[in-house]
Amino acid sequence: SRRAFLGAGAALGAMAVVAPSRTGFARVPAPFVPTRTLTLASGEAELRLLGPDKPATAIYAYDGEPFRQIRVPRGTRLEATYLNGLDEGSSLHFHGIRMPNEYDGVPPLTQPLVQPGGRFVHRLPLDDPGTFFFHPHCDETGQAGRGLVGALIVEDPRDPHFDVDEVLCLKDWRLADDGGFLELSEPDGASKAGTFGGTRTVNGVPVAEIAVPAGGDARLRILNVDSTRIMDIGVEGAQAWLIAVDGHALPPILLDELPDGIWRMGPAQRIDIHVRMPLKGGPVTVGDYRAADIYHFATLRADGKRARKPGKEPHDKGEPGKGAPDKGALALPRPELPFPEIETAELHSFTLQQATDAAVKNLGLPPDDPLAKALVASFCVGATTYWSIGQISWSTGNRLGLPPPLAVMQEGRSYRIEIKNETRYPHPIHLHGHAFYVISSSKGRLPQHFADTVLVQPGEAVEIAFVAAPGDWVFHCHILEHMETGMMGWFRVI
Ligand code: C2O
Ligand code: CU
Repeated sequence: SRRAFLGAGAALGAMAVVAPSRTGFARVPAPFVPTRTLTLASGEAELRLLGPDKPATAIYAYDGEPFRQIRVPRGTRLEATYLNGLDEGSSLHFHGIRMPNEYDGVPPLTQPLVQPGGRFVHRLPLDDPGTFFFHPHCDETGQAGRGLVGALIVEDPRDPHFDVDEVLCLKDWRLADDGGFLELSEPDGASKAGTFGGTRTVNGVPVAEIAVPAGGDARLRILNVDSTRIMDIGVEGAQAWLIAVDGHALPPILLDELPDGIWRMGPAQRIDIHVRMPLKGGPVTVGDYRAADIYHFATLRADGKRARKPGKEPHDKGEPGKGAPDKGALALPRPELPFPEIETAELHSFTLQQATDAAVKNLGLPPDDPLAKALVASFCVGATTYWSIGQISWSTGNRLGLPPPLAVMQEGRSYRIEIKNETRYPHPIHLHGHAFYVISSSKGRLPQHFADTVLVQPGEAVEIAFVAAPGDWVFHCHILEHMETGMMGWFRVI
């Protein structure tokens, strides 16, 4: 009834002003003695994205370096000072890293916005090896959309030997003919599959050329750092195995044994692939096979040398297009992550919806009812809302509209989260500060593995589980327009 609705509206209004408590934050492991100190300054850089004789584009980058790459050994105590060289507020978030909550870089939940010229010091214990990345957590479509992302590689000395170890950052750009940016988010995109870029790149160039010894082993760390695009990654011309997802090792899976021979990867997801170079033939191509227009983004060519490893014979029996016949994948060491107690974990279920659908379910009002519309608008004064998660919309365009937490959890306890997608579009859902275990997909689509982001297809329910770490952690879609228009919530772990 109307009355019930007005009551609900008033309660929601009151909840919208709840301020985050400062008590739930993780304690800094004391003492924190940095073993590596660096600064990361956001600012402009030039990149010739349209072609060699076309106008350059003024992008955003860290330290003037497009897709800046940091490599550190596992166990590093990293002290990273973020310097905001943009003329707008920003912050720095290290995606996928388990860390004290206060360094998570999420205004207004864990810290204030870093003003132009301001700084923020992050202290990160990097104990989990793998392929991670970093980006701003404020105006993501604008800032990450202009290129403000970098890769953080935490190397594990226990890893097997690869002849080549390459980072491949995939990102599209929305460019006008003069090299400037087109609108990075359009309502038609934000409310549907997203606003796509037309110029596709890897590390800022059209194709990565990688030289590998014949018969050698290449490790490709593939990062989808695009704002919008979901990609189907596959390899042609060689045997290749999926050896890690979101940085975390899994028992190697031959790509050919996956459905359609591809791994589907949404924004913010990463994979490590082991490619065994053939002894003869080639080249080997790596591509996104999802679009009608296949995008081959990397070419691996034999560099004239022959792989020889200490204590191993060179393999001579290879055939064109095939690796050495008698060798399997180079598996990475098993991840050392807290493993949830799935049997006894407390279950929470959250539904991904179009925001108007959520209002209808909440209130029993038709979507065109003016009161239903007013409710949707009340979540996000000054920002558009198209999406909800667990029937709550937090449109980050409005920094005052912090909703109540989706759940309050206890530190150290195991939780199971079911994510049900009732929309018509896929959503890569990310939880900060944890590595969760992907337990199941209702479509039987996913192997069990650790991850920090999981793609949930339309009509699919995916279950994840994790051991809760203390702090306030956001849980959101990583299609940046979706998160900014409502598909974001947070958990409080006390
Ligand atoms: Cu990649 Cu909320 O982050
Ligand atoms: Cu989404």
